[in-house]
Amino acid sequence: IDKGNLLYRGKAKDVYQTSNPNQVLVKFRDDITAGDGEKKEVMGLKGYYNSIISAKFFQLLEEVGVKTQYIDLPEPGYMLCHKLDMIPLEVITRNLAAGSLLRRFPFQDGQTFHPPIIQMDYKNDEYHDPMLNDDIILALGLATADDLEEIRQITLKINRTLKTFLEDRGLIFPDFKIEYGRDVDGNIVLGDEISPDTCRFWDRETCDVLDKDLFRKGESGVIEAYQKVANIILDDEDKK
Ligand code: C5P
Repeated sequence: IDKGNLLYRGKAKDVYQTSNPNQVLVKFRDDITAGDGEKKEVMGLKGYYNSIISAKFFQLLEEVGVKTQYIDLPEPGYMLCHKLDMIPLEVITRNLAAGSLLRRFPFQDGQTFHPPIIQMDYKNDEYHDPMLNDDIILALGLATADDLEEIRQITLKINRTLKTFLEDRGLIFPDFKIEYGRDVDGNIVLGDEISPDTCRFWDRETCDVLDKDLFRKGESGVIEAYQKVANIILDDEDKK
């Protein structure tokens, strides 16, 4: 595989230059972290599952006209991607009240949101990813008002597409986090990953949690849950 210099090392992924200046190779590592990186472990096969799950979601989104970084999965664990200049926003969409929202605001556990809530946090370890508002985003120069409107519209489309796809397969989709970047032509493009590390997935029948909340709460069966998500969303053709 075409793997050049390491450009960036995140908490769970590495980004390598390829021989094409406009493309990068993203390695999904087995490191799993929670609580601002304070809780850390290595979990065999996590990178493998997150790469195939993300690839499936990116392909699905491309089919409905969402621009994503995805080009190919040359081997599981490695994703060939369009190089993006990442926008340091964590764009969180919430269909149901869960997680930090319940700790911070008086919502009821499991309360549904119509329309969904879009929350933007500043991706910045030093400042612990604070929640932003539009004026702060503009003042920090992170995006323009037009960018924000475009990000909102794309995000809602992503939510509709994934929510329907997952509900058809018996999964509830309480919330998820995505990140965007700009490609060489200045287009806003979906980057990063969409995986059990960055989404909540609940089994509608059993109410089982099938995402990183298991790790956050110190429960067992984390990798089995990720495997189950992969099995549910990948059709037989993808698994060959
Ligand atoms: O922590 P909270 O409940 O606000 O998370 C909302 C959603 O965003 C969850 O699906 C979580 O996995 C995701 N998230 C993330 N990375 C963060 C914060 C939240 O992927 N830094």
